Amino acid sequence: MSQPKFYLTTPIYYANSRPHVGSAYTTIVCDVIARYKRMCGYDVAYLTGTDEHGVNIERAAEKLGITPQQLVDKNERIFRELWKLLGITNTEFIRTTELRHARAVQNLVRRTQERDKKLEPSQRAIYQAKYEGRYCIYDNLYVSDTAEPADCQICGRPGELVSEENYFFRLSAYQQKLLELYKNTPHFVHPDFRFNEVKSFVEGGLKDISISRKSIKWGIPWPDDPEHVFYVWYDALTSYLSGIGFESEDAQKRAEFERFWPADIHAMGKEIIRFHAVYWPAFLMAAGIELPKQIIAHGWLLFEQEKMSKSKGNVAYPEPIVKVLGNDALRYYLLRDVVFGQDGNFSRESLITRYNADLANGLGNLANRTLTMIERNLGGVMPSCGSGANLVETVKGENLGEIAKLYGRFDFSQALEKVWGLVAACDKFLAAEKPWTYADDPARREALERTLFTAADVLRIACVLGHPVIPDATQKIWQQLGQAGKIEDVRIDQLKWQELKSGTKIGKPEGVFPRIDKKEALERIATMENEIRNPDSTQPETSTTTTKKPAEGASTGTSAAGAAAIPAGAPGAGTSAGGAALAASGAGAAPAAAAAPAKIGIEDFAKIELRVGLVKSAEKVAGADKLLKVMVDIGDEVRQVLAGIAPSYAPEELVGRKVVVVTNLAPRKMRGVESNGMLLAASAGPDGKAVLCTFAEEIPAGAKVK
Ligand code: MSP
Repeated sequence: MSQPKFYLTTPIYYANSRPHVGSAYTTIVCDVIARYKRMCGYDVAYLTGTDEHGVNIERAAEKLGITPQQLVDKNERIFRELWKLLGITNTEFIRTTELRHARAVQNLVRRTQERDKKLEPSQRAIYQAKYEGRYCIYDNLYVSDTAEPADCQICGRPGELVSEENYFFRLSAYQQKLLELYKNTPHFVHPDFRFNEVKSFVEGGLKDISISRKSIKWGIPWPDDPEHVFYVWYDALTSYLSGIGFESEDAQKRAEFERFWPADIHAMGKEIIRFHAVYWPAFLMAAGIELPKQIIAHGWLLFEQEKMSKSKGNVAYPEPIVKVLGNDALRYYLLRDVVFGQDGNFSRESLITRYNADLANGLGNLANRTLTMIERNLGGVMPSCGSGANLVETVKGENLGEIAKLYGRFDFSQALEKVWGLVAACDKFLAAEKPWTYADDPARREALERTLFTAADVLRIACVLGHPVIPDATQKIWQQLGQAGKIEDVRIDQLKWQELKSGTKIGKPEGVFPRIDKKEALERIATMENEIRNPDSTQPETSTTTTKKPAEGASTGTSAAGAAAIPAGAPGAGTSAGGAALAASGAGAAPAAAAAPAKIGIEDFAKIELRVGLVKSAEKVAGADKLLKVMVDIGDEVRQVLAGIAPSYAPEELVGRKVVVVTNLAPRKMRGVESNGMLLAASAGPDGKAVLCTFAEEIPAGAKVK
């Protein structure tokens, strides 16, 4: 019998900033489902990725003075690295700036237009019309279909006015079909209360939606009309197809698509259900493509009752937590403390409390005690259960299959509660049995073996059932228990008591969850978080003008921006099924914009006070490789300025030099030393030598630079 397939996806995350614990939550949830399904014998495809188009990316890049491509390249790397750090087992990763994705989006619309040809113009799914409304660039949704000022329902920011000729999708025509879908697929949206919200929304009537933009350049060009780019949701949702081989030029990838589509689960946060449960099925129906089977939505992670979000500045980052407490700790805490579907509070303190209680004192301690006794008192050989094995009374009755199934029902928190119930019962059993009191009594050897076998068997069961959530520690304990192979290959849905392999030599007992001092851990996490928030705090305080490459040069070559410029007929264009050429009109197709830094008015520039400075002395700052403390005469005073130019200049080289100083910069401390300004310098790249700005002619210290 061939292996059943399972395809699940996370949302593809905006690449305008780095991921936080909120984004990690969805990805971890999906990873738990993926691991669980694999342990049930499924061949799992797991897709995640980055959403790299749209005006908020354009603007974020503009603010930083880099191109959108540079920005998304940087953030995409951070996403991938974080997923590795968190032990995420995604099999696919899609970026919406990839050529394969642009091809898929263009071909999806072409398929729709092909089908439309058979319909009256008034019934066609895609048509052109003038759009006027308010749009939230942060959440990428229309907040109102009139020009009247209106605020975004998600973030509360004012919507921006949009007025232009767009391509529209006739969503209004899909109301009945969607309601039928919901009727025929009773679990299409999970949890049920969210499904009810979706149904009411659709029952209330649907408006057509604009799916293209003229005002944005950073996007995938519309086929045959490159003045338009795709509106982000049409583009973004299609990544669920492109990421798994839809319209791929590679036959093997296309076969993969045939095998895995339709998606079994699209998982996400509650704020984007509407796009997935309403827009997405309608887009697919219009193109004649099978629909996903289920949409599951979790609540938000809150910080003081507010959604954790970078724009609100209330985010926690996963990396410091993982570095201090380990990958399993964050995964366990999120799945154990947040009930799937509901909002949950995130707090580093309760995370550490949970870690110490359940992981260090709970599972970790049980493993340590049991294995150490087997090592010391039974020569390190796993005992057999003997006759009439003494299984812990309370665990005997637990139906292991039912516990495993809780994962399949997204009741992660309850599944873990049950598993830790087994651990607690075993602790209680050992406390009552006190095997250490007769460990050296040869007459009670059999009882000792039975007791330790029982404890080790509970450990085995807890590890298998806990593996989808805490993969690292459970694999380690598995090895220490002397069990063969990888724990991930054990069938979680076929677990039985007393199947612990005996007679094997156990591994060396080693603690997997050391107890953590809360105060110290919180301090370490806070320090690392600060470094993430203020990457500059250990960076040069010198303003370096990085040589900027032209946008084309900056593109990775896989971007849709690059794709858009491929003339029809060039390799890769116009050859895929459906005959879609990426460049709708050859070289004339709109390339994505090169984001130059935003223009500023002279009044903005006038806010910066620049003066000629004469360096009086310079010395290294203790404990900072890059920093020099420079005393610089700016005419009416001598200023102390820290500059990150130690790799480029020896302190003594600077004395007597004329430099350009930003004199009205707010003071800032680095390594405990205050800096009262900034020296201007240029550098030829991120690792390039800094070259201080200076003057070819004589000029007195204190003179204004303007
Ligand atoms: N790019 C769109 C999704 C397109 S999918 C075709 C997007 N991206 S996002 O970066 O804003 O990520 C949204 C997802 O991140 C949410 O749906 C949710 O899964 C997760 N979260 C972001 N903040 C979160 C919390 N504070 N709490 C929990 N999850 C959060 O929307």
